[in-house]
Amino acid sequence: MPTMLEVTGLGHRYRSKDGEHIALDGLSFDVNAGELVCIVGPSGCGKSTLLRSISGLIRPTSGQVRLHGDVVDGVPSDLAVVFQDYSRSLFPWLSVQRNVEFPLKKSLDKAERRERARQALEQVGLAGAAGKYPWQLSGGMQQRVAIARALAYRPALLLMDEPFASVDAQTRFDLEDLLLRVRREYDTTILLVTHDIDESVYLGDRVVVLSKSPARVVRTLDVDLPAQRDQITTRESEAFVALRSEVARLLHGQPAGDAPTGNGRPSAGRAPAKGKTGTASSAGSTAASSAGSSSGSSEKAASAKAQPSRNGQAANRNRGKGNGAKSRRRGRARR
Ligand SMILES: Nc1ncnc2c1ncn2[C@@H]1O[C@H](COP(=O)(O)OP(=O)(O)OP(=O)(O)O)[C@@H](O)[C@H]1O
Ligand SMILES: [Mg+2]
Repeated sequence: MPTMLEVTGLGHRYRSKDGEHIALDGLSFDVNAGELVCIVGPSGCGKSTLLRSISGLIRPTSGQVRLHGDVVDGVPSDLAVVFQDYSRSLFPWLSVQRNVEFPLKKSLDKAERRERARQALEQVGLAGAAGKYPWQLSGGMQQRVAIARALAYRPALLLMDEPFASVDAQTRFDLEDLLLRVRREYDTTILLVTHDIDESVYLGDRVVVLSKSPARVVRTLDVDLPAQRDQITTRESEAFVALRSEVARLLHGQPAGDAPTGNGRPSAGRAPAKGKTGTASSAGSTAASSAGSSSGSSEKAASAKAQPSRNGQAANRNRGKGNGAKSRRRGRARR
């Protein structure tokens, strides 16, 4: 499986009149094409900073990010982000339909854009809200619009920052399963940040556990669960319960049972899993979609900056590979 994303020695420090704050401290990990990697870390540890660095919205103060082998210096065109702060991620003067269509303007004609947006809104259960404006929707609905926008864009790499935090439990389960389906269908590579330990295990091929601030990689865990997941049976399985306990122990600073040893580059230092290159992954998303850094306008601008023609090519590439991800996951050796 080729490496899609390489994060090497990534560090970021914020400077203000009150001094400096180190947010990221030498993070290294890789994400392979077709993987879904979850990042879990304590509140305020630097997860959003990490995603903003990966998406090119902020320039890290040390280290580098490579996407498809190219150093990220600005928002790549085939990457989409669903930001944590949904309230600043949508254009209030555009209808829901037009918000979802927005990043597709350069790559698709009007009829195709309309149909793509219609499908995406239906997928997130908002078909009936297409003509409304974001400010007429609840927070959870706005977040689903942001997710629809990212899905409609069909990026090669999708970064998601706490994408389901503002929806109710049942919607959250539905959206998690939607994400798994979309990922299978389009072979999208996904890096997803979550606070929810169970969600990280349920969704992930791997879970990258971060330390408290400044963020460092504590450990990367392979998720040893069947590729086909189910909200009831998967969550009650012994393997799931063991993994979630392991992640919880790592988050609380206690050594995990028999977890693989982690280091700066999380997958190094242990035998590569069968069918994998041995690199680890992490998660995040910047579709030409939303925003979530200190200023909403920068992310909106980032959305507008995406060049859908390249993305279109990526999407076409991905469409032809739908079964590849499944076979890769099937071929993955279990710890
Ligand atoms: N623009 C900024 N200027 C100065 N400090 C910042 C800025 N953005 C974030 N920080 C600080 O950097 C640290 C990491 O912030 P970040 O938002 O990345 O954390 P997080 O893990 O995403 O938090 P949460 O779990 O609450 O979403 C925090 O201490 C935060 O106060
Ligand atoms: Mg955050």
